[in-house]
Amino acid sequence: MSIAFDQAAGYYDESRGIPREVEEEAADRVEAAVGPAARLLEMGVGTGRVALPLHRRGRQVVGVDLSLPMLERYRAKAAAEGLPPPPLLRADATRLPLRDACVDAVLEVHVLHLIPDWELALAEARRVLVPGGAVLIGRGGGHRGGQGPRMETLNRFDQLAAELGGGPRRVGADDDTTKVAALVALGGTAETLEPVVWEQQETYAEALAAVEGRIYSFTWRLPDQVFHTAAGRLRAELEAAHPDLDTPHQAGHSFTLTAVRF
Ligand SMILES: C[S@@+](CC[C@H](N)C(=O)[O-])C[C@H]1O[C@@H](n2cnc3c(N)ncnc32)[C@H](O)[C@@H]1O
Repeated sequence: MSIAFDQAAGYYDESRGIPREVEEEAADRVEAAVGPAARLLEMGVGTGRVALPLHRRGRQVVGVDLSLPMLERYRAKAAAEGLPPPPLLRADATRLPLRDACVDAVLEVHVLHLIPDWELALAEARRVLVPGGAVLIGRGGGHRGGQGPRMETLNRFDQLAAELGGGPRRVGADDDTTKVAALVALGGTAETLEPVVWEQQETYAEALAAVEGRIYSFTWRLPDQVFHTAAGRLRAELEAAHPDLDTPHQAGHSFTLTAVRF
């Protein structure tokens, strides 16, 4: 079973949001890679973190997601800005309700790790692309990728949970290299685009609260006992290492797209 984000719809943007200027630069990268007239599909569009800036520019982006609450959140954000409703489909990325060869590019950002049949989703992406089309795989963002308190805290929690037998972190694709390699095996040619980089202030207190609040999908599948023990050890370690958890630290982040062209 894929992991739908129904439970995260209310807090997704607050916890995974990226600065507005970074969103705009990411949209610039997409446009530079595929052209402003491209018909785009985003699989696992969520609340439109990536698609909304393109929709705002009048670009054609169809969003597909399993989670109705996430799609509703995206629709409400577009409406609040006075934009027309974005074209959205509640559907599974492994069975896209689209005909063959009908889009110029497919976007995938932080989705295939949630899908056990992720290779099927990539085959579907390939099927709906026109000849010469591209799949754009995104990585990084405000909570994954980069360095700083948030990344350090999440990585340490991962280690502690794994030591307690927390099981595989992901139900789907392990990382972006794996996704890109699978697309190359389908006949694509990969090109990594210039990353968008930015800095932000973070505290260990916020990072710890995010883990303890169980807002990240990798914590949802952990047995409660593993989760609570790992979170307790994490807090003890951080309190020992950083007497003032509320001190802000500068953190560097990046968002990178790899274009795989067919
Ligand atoms: C981490 S969010 C990423 C959302 C967006 N791409 C972004 O970068 O902000 C992952 C999204 O993928 C959706 N999802 C998970 N499995 C899916 C599937 N099999 N088909 C379509 N969407 C799926 C979830 O419901 C969630 O909205």
